[in-house]
Amino acid sequence: MTDHAEEQKRAAALAALQLVEDGMVLGLGSGSTAEIFLDALGAKIANGMRITGVPTSKRVGELAATRGIPIADLEDVQRIDLAVDGADEIHPRALDLIKGRGGALLREKLVATTAARFCVIADATKLVAQLGERFAVPVAVIPFGWRQTAERVRALGCEPVLRLNAHATPESALPGGHSNAAYVSDDGLYILDCQFGPIADPAGLDIALKGVLGVVEHGLFLGLAERAIVATERGVKIVEPGQAPS
Ligand code: A5P
Repeated sequence: MTDHAEEQKRAAALAALQLVEDGMVLGLGSGSTAEIFLDALGAKIANGMRITGVPTSKRVGELAATRGIPIADLEDVQRIDLAVDGADEIHPRALDLIKGRGGALLREKLVATTAARFCVIADATKLVAQLGERFAVPVAVIPFGWRQTAERVRALGCEPVLRLNAHATPESALPGGHSNAAYVSDDGLYILDCQFGPIADPAGLDIALKGVLGVVEHGLFLGLAERAIVATERGVKIVEPGQAPS
């Protein structure tokens, strides 16, 4: 990542901090931008702000604890006032997203859907003209029968690739399959990274993927975000659905 992108992530994260009020229950996103937000939130807590955080991954729960941020599981809170999370791709007009490069898409979607307000924070590289033009759609599947599930997903028009652990040996180099090397999510799921290319009908793909036996969730986040805070070379822009960033 360039220093530039890092600076933009920081600018977006700090701008989102302005939305946080004392007493809020916050959804805490995963990924590098969300972790910058977490650091800044930790500083607010150290200065006396009281919030409860609902982490979207085990890693973020652990990071929050080290920063003195009180945390709770989703099922133990009555509400989430605001969720703040990063994204891999943002379609600015509809504010539809691809998320899940960090593997936390299921918990991220549960938290974003529960939240009264869902704010995306990102650097300018995340803006796309069409979802799918840069990133694959991550699809979380049950490990049992994952190859058959992958075939059913392939029939929707993509090439599913099983996500491996960072240091795993590629399948082609292994004699007997690679399930031991597969990345396993916090919820015990495998991730299929599905390159569809530019997606003409995200809503149709959302429904189609959810209809595949063995698929638990996918990384298309449609109609969930209330706003995106996107840091560009020209400053921080607030993007709301129906608007293009100026
Ligand atoms: C985590 O599973 C993801 O959804 C991240 O929020 C997304 O990949 C953005 O991550 P960065 O902020 O690291 O780009």
